[in-house]
Order: sequence, then structure tokens, then C-alpha cells
Amino acid sequence: MKRELERLRDLIRYHEHKYYVESEPEISDREFDRLMEQLKAREAQHPELVTPDSPTQRIFDGTLEGFKQVSHKVAMLSLDNSYNFTELAAFDERVRRSLGIDTDDIEYVAELKIDGVGIALLYENGVLVRGATRGNGTVGDDITPNVRTIMSIPLKLQGDDGLMPPSLEVRGEAFIGLKEFERINREREEAGQPVFANPRNSTAGALRTLDVMEVARRRLDVFIYTLSHAEGLAVETHSESLKLMGRFGLKVNLTTRVCRGLSQVKNYCDEWQEKRHSLDYATDGVVVKVNRLDYQQRLGQTSKHPRWAIAYKFPAEQATTKVLSIDVQVGRTGAVTPVATFEPVQLSGTTVKRASLHNFDEVRRKDVRVGDTVLLEKAGEIIPQVVNVIKSERTGEEMPFEAPTECPVCGSSLVKPEGEVVTRCVNSACPAVLKESIAHFASRAGFEIDGMGPALIDMLVDRGLAKNYADLFKLKKENLVELPRMAEKSADNLLAAIEKSKKVRFDRLIYALGIRHVGAFAARALAQRFGTMDELLSGKSASATGLLTSEQTALSEIDGIGEIVAASIVQYFSVPGNVDVIEELFDAGVEIIYPEKKAASASPFSGKRFVLTGTLNSMNREEAKERIESLGGQITSSVTEKTDCVIVGDKPGSKLDKARKLGVDVLSEDAFLEIIKADIG
Ligand code: IVH
Repeated sequence: MKRELERLRDLIRYHEHKYYVESEPEISDREFDRLMEQLKAREAQHPELVTPDSPTQRIFDGTLEGFKQVSHKVAMLSLDNSYNFTELAAFDERVRRSLGIDTDDIEYVAELKIDGVGIALLYENGVLVRGATRGNGTVGDDITPNVRTIMSIPLKLQGDDGLMPPSLEVRGEAFIGLKEFERINREREEAGQPVFANPRNSTAGALRTLDVMEVARRRLDVFIYTLSHAEGLAVETHSESLKLMGRFGLKVNLTTRVCRGLSQVKNYCDEWQEKRHSLDYATDGVVVKVNRLDYQQRLGQTSKHPRWAIAYKFPAEQATTKVLSIDVQVGRTGAVTPVATFEPVQLSGTTVKRASLHNFDEVRRKDVRVGDTVLLEKAGEIIPQVVNVIKSERTGEEMPFEAPTECPVCGSSLVKPEGEVVTRCVNSACPAVLKESIAHFASRAGFEIDGMGPALIDMLVDRGLAKNYADLFKLKKENLVELPRMAEKSADNLLAAIEKSKKVRFDRLIYALGIRHVGAFAARALAQRFGTMDELLSGKSASATGLLTSEQTALSEIDGIGEIVAASIVQYFSVPGNVDVIEELFDAGVEIIYPEKKAASASPFSGKRFVLTGTLNSMNREEAKERIESLGGQITSSVTEKTDCVIVGDKPGSKLDKARKLGVDVLSEDAFLEIIKADIG
């Protein structure tokens, strides 16, 4: 059993590495979850065999008391900065002078400077035993439980036991990817919490959090860039150590480049200054390091920085522009947000015309007025923010902003709950709230109603044709053709799209309801846990009769549902009108499909492995993946003997050749569509 468990763990570790380190998953998420379930079940039968490096042991579900302090064996220094090529050349000059090398061919390693938080990881016999912050460089915090939630950090290193150093310490940068950062801020904005100014702040905040589940929810990532201590390993250069760390299964950054001489370093800097916006993480410069470790030794360090490395900082991307107006928007949750419109200005590769000012307190604090000249910056390179007002540019003509006390759309009084920063319109019939809710309901991750765009939703709500979600399914052709710019053909198309959307997956239905804090992830967790709407409703209605707290507790025990989310679900279902609308949806013909059950029967996709190549016209990759998985198949990334079928879109790649070589079945997009249509019925 012990052996079998370890084999299963190794298999899961392998797939974790493929997914989180290499970003090249070989199996579907579902298949991965199945392996984890298997492991959990077996470990539950044999709790005495559970090891701390088991993939099931990543997240400690509880609150930490505080962090212990740890001393770093080797001090964690910071880097000296340079802001232009002259300063960089001075560094190169110093290095060569100290080493007594007068040719221009010192080997440097140029790597991106990740804008996150430095951490140190200690592995003993290949097992992660400690994660620590930099602290003051000598003493940091022991944040092991938080670091263990970072999926790209292996709990156990790969590689031969014989070669594994008994003690290995590496350093790297923990960060939050830009997409995740956007998600976190969106969720915080909706929850009435202050948004983070940039991904670095949210990473730093996460690493200091005592609630480990909360850290896990931030989905941190890491790049490892220093091998600080490796007992018994002989390495001569920094680039070699990076390779070695990669082989241990640690996530090193693949954009790193060995450069001969300063001119190649400059090329790298120029290149990434341009290209950095294409990355999913924030980088604020390049770190230039002398490659040879014996040179590093000879160069030594000052009390603060090594003399063998320097950071080249990209020029800060800021711009100034004029505020043309400050308007107030009402969101799906009723949150009222001030939004500034500017004279269009170029910033980090895009034209910025608008930026959220987040909330009224923020406008007051920054004292942003219409007519002001403001300094803009892109937080985490994506979201434009007003840094401050340039008060010296004021003429006296600027108009101070007055926060409204009434909803600009429906006129009802606005509410600002104690302790929250967000002001809300709490009128659930407010057209603005309704419009946003319908847009969410019909969106891709919800009912996916093609053609249900903002302009149409505006008209439907303004004319009283959509007073709730269920009304969408009661629309008639005669209502639609009366709308401006709605020809008969478009009305038919829209009705067909609405009809098609009536068959909906359970989790998508839950998501579409727009329950505060219930995104796609929580919706999937709820769908899995409750299975049917009746179960979910009966589970919840108990709460309305005074069981609220125990109900909440039960919900927050579901993986992926925290207490705030649980409270929000209970609150949603305690409003009778919300339950009525769900019933109305079913009366109007909405039908939940349960793809998993279907897949278990006769789907031609069941248990088969598929590979996609080329571009599909009818759907994107994600959708194709979802369809195949919902029918019981799985998507893998490369064609092997085990592949059952390759689905071929436009401009197929080498995967098609490989499929032909191996004699794997090939399916055109049309044939694929035929099959899935037949299967969904
Ligand atoms: S090397 C002594 N490499 O930048 C050398 N640091 O401002 C120290 N950082 O404390 C680290 N990306 O947290 C190195 N590729 C990279 C880095 C990097 C980001 C951080 C690190 C360091 C800070 C210095």
C-alpha cells in the first residue's frame, strides 16, 4: 500500500509539474481531480501513511497564530538599481576593472526582474521544509504554510534520490499573475473591500495572511532565480544552477538569457522593455548577473548589494492627462462607482480614456476634480489608476466632485453600510442593476445567449420587456421586431439563441444567478455538492427558518466556498423573490443538463483521449475542451500512441503529421460538430 500510495503521489506530482510549472498539461483537469480524489480516498483509509509532502497536504485549513522568525543562513541582499544604459555601462566597467578583464566579453545572465515578493525555500532530502520571507535580509518570517499553497512550488523535488543534496536552499519571487490580479480586484470591488494598487501589494498581503485558505484563493505563483545553498553540488555558473533547479522541478523563468558582453545585455533589455506587456506577470526591469560563480565570489558584496549584479529598471510608465468628467456607474451588485473620463492618452501600449476612481472616499482623498490634470499609472501594467492630481496645474476653474446621495439611475437613496467603503443602490428593481444582472446572466460563462449584448439589454429593460431573468425566455417575435434596428432575421436568430440556451449546465445556471461572491469556481463547487436545484434550494431554504448559522457552516465546508461566500448564498436564497425567479425559469422551459451522467452512458467521447490542432471556427479551444470533457472525453496536449483522435481545425500543426504517422484517427471540425450535436440531442 505504501508503495502504491507513493506511486500515485508521484503521478500527481508529475501532472502538477506539467500544469503549474511547464504550463503544458497532459491530462484534463477532470482527470487530475480524479487522481487527487483517489489519493484522498486511499489516504483516508490509511491516515498513518500520509506524508507531509503528499499533494493532498498543500493547504492547511485553519488560522495560523502568527509567524515564527527565522535567520537566513546566507543573507538575502537586495539589488543596486540602474536607470539607463550609461549607469549599466558603469556597472560593467566596475566589474571588469575589479576582475582585471579588459575585453568586452564578460558573460552575464540577463533575467526579468519579477515585481513580486522575495522568498527563500528550504528543502531537506528533497522535501520542502520551510518557506520564509526576506524580512530585513538577515531575519525573516517563517511562512511555510502559505508557501505550500503555491502550486508551482513542489512539496517534493524531482530527481534521483542519490543526487538530491541533503540540504538545498533556493530563492525566488512569489507573485500573482495579472489575470488573477484582475480577478482578485474584481471580487474585492464587488465585496466592498479596497482594491489592491498592484499585484505586488496583493502578493505581499497574501503572504502575510494567517488564514491559509485565503492565501490559496489568491493563487500565487513563483519564479526561482537563486540557488543559495546546495550541499555537495558542484556548480560553476549561475546559468548552470538555473538548469539544475529546473531539473529538480523548480519553476525557473525561461526568458532568462546568457549574454556575452554588455551589448547583448542591452539587446535583452530593449527587447523586454517592448515585449513585457505580453507577459501575464508584472516585471519592472532586468536583473543582470555575472555568470561565473568564482567571479561572483571575487567581486563580493557591500553591506546591502552584491557587486556582481545590478537591476536595470524599465522607465516608469506614467502619463498625465486632463479629467473631462466624473460619472457614476451602477454595477450588478448595486455598487456605485465613480469613473473618470480623460482626454485620451497613450500609456504602456494602450490608449487610456477612462479609469475607475473606485469609491467616493478615494475621490475625496485624492481630491480629483473635473478639469484637473492628473498623473496616471498602470497598476500591474493593466489597470489605469489615478496616482495623484497635479495641483500646480490648477487654474481655479476645476469643479469639485459631489458624491450623489441618490442612485443616478433609479433615484432611490444610496446606502453605505458601516465599515464598507462601497456605496450601493439596494433597489433590486433598479434598471441599472437589472441590466448588469441580465448581461451577467446571458454571458458566456452563464446562459451564453448569443446576441444578448448591452444595447439590446438596455432596450429590453427600458421598455419593460425584461423585468427579471425569466422574462428573457418569454420574449416573443412581435415584441422583438418592434425594437429599433431589429430586423425579422435578427429576431429569429435571437429567439433561436434563447431557445438553445434553455438547456443549461447546472453550475452555469448557478453562476448566472449572479449571487454575490459566487463566481464560476464556487458555482462548480456548489453544483458538485448539491447535484440538483431541488437539493440546493431545500438545503438553503432551511436557513430562512433560523438555521442560518449551521447552514452557513455546512456551506463553508465545501471546498471552494469560504464563509463570506456561504453567507452570501444563504442571504440570496432567503429572499423569496429570488427563489420565485428560479421557479419561473423552469416554468419558462429552462432545463438543467447533467453532462456527467450523459457521458457515463454511450457517448462516443467517453474515456477517449483527444488532441486539438489548428484553429476551430465554431468555438475556441476552451469551449472545445469543455464540450469534450462534458461528454466524458479528455484533452491532452501531445499526440502519442495513446491518443484516440485528433480534431483538426484550420492551419493544423505538426500534430496532424504525427497523428497520420501513428495511425491515429483524425476528425474534421464539421465531423466533430456533428458528433457533439448528436450527443447533446
Ligand atoms: S536576484 C542578491 N533575480 O528584486 C541578488 N532578484 O530589488 C538578489 N527580484 O530582493 C536577488 N526578480 O526579491 C534576483 N530575477 C531576479 C529577480 C529578483 C525579482 C527581486 C528580489 C530582490 C529584489 C531586489
